[in-house]
Amino acid sequence: MPLKTKNEHLEKLLISQLPKQEVKEWLQEFSAPFKELIAYYRCAMMEVATKFNVLSEELSLEYDRNPIETVKSRIKSIESITDKLLRKNLELTVENIEKYIYDVAGIRVICAFPADIYAISNALLRQDDVRLIEVKDYIKNPKPNGYRSLHLIIEIPIFLHDEKRYMKVEVQFRTISMDWWASLEHKIKYKKDVAHHNLIEKELLECAEIASDLDERMEQIYKYVSTEKE
Ligand code: GTP
Ligand code: MG
Repeated sequence: MPLKTKNEHLEKLLISQLPKQEVKEWLQEFSAPFKELIAYYRCAMMEVATKFNVLSEELSLEYDRNPIETVKSRIKSIESITDKLLRKNLELTVENIEKYIYDVAGIRVICAFPADIYAISNALLRQDDVRLIEVKDYIKNPKPNGYRSLHLIIEIPIFLHDEKRYMKVEVQFRTISMDWWASLEHKIKYKKDVAHHNLIEKELLECAEIASDLDERMEQIYKYVSTEKE
């Protein structure tokens, strides 16, 4: 099958699998502007990922370790985007997606130690093309369930052939252990209906606290070894 036909076929299949008739009809009508918007988000996501890859390259030359372990990126699925708008009781429009959904483009930066998260996020925010829109520091203020992570919503420009367009990107910074906990908690919670099961929530919270203590201890060991070396 030629690539274009294959893509069209896949797109039809994807739309037909969407549960809501309302969403299906909307997507059929607004397929072109929706695809255009998603393409812009993909460009913005690539720009931000490149910023972290550049920082990673530079810092690994300067120091004997790399504070950035991994950089992952994702575009929110059509289904999650439309579900989120409907959940917020907003009309399905391309404008509303851009105005009210801040995490269409998402980047996750996994760092070695908690202090690296602040060093790397500050290095990003010092760049003069980055606008800070929102900060949620779930490391200083963990969520009641134990979730830890630093979330930023930023805007960065993408340069199209005839315009400069600012796009929002959500950046989540985590240590390896914060990421490990969040991934497993997500698996445990979303596989089975265990939300609001007190014992499980208590266990998960305790695991998050142990993981956070370990992060602190590992950072102390690292600091000790670094000062010894000097
Ligand atoms: P949504 O974007 O609708 O989720 O609401 P919000 O903007 O208030 O969310 P927030 O910034 O608190 O979190 C957004 C993202 O962080 C989620 O999509 C998840 O990726 C992650 N996240 C937040 N809370 C949790 C949690 O308790 N567990 C896990 N595993 N991930 C979480
Ligand atoms: Mg969000």
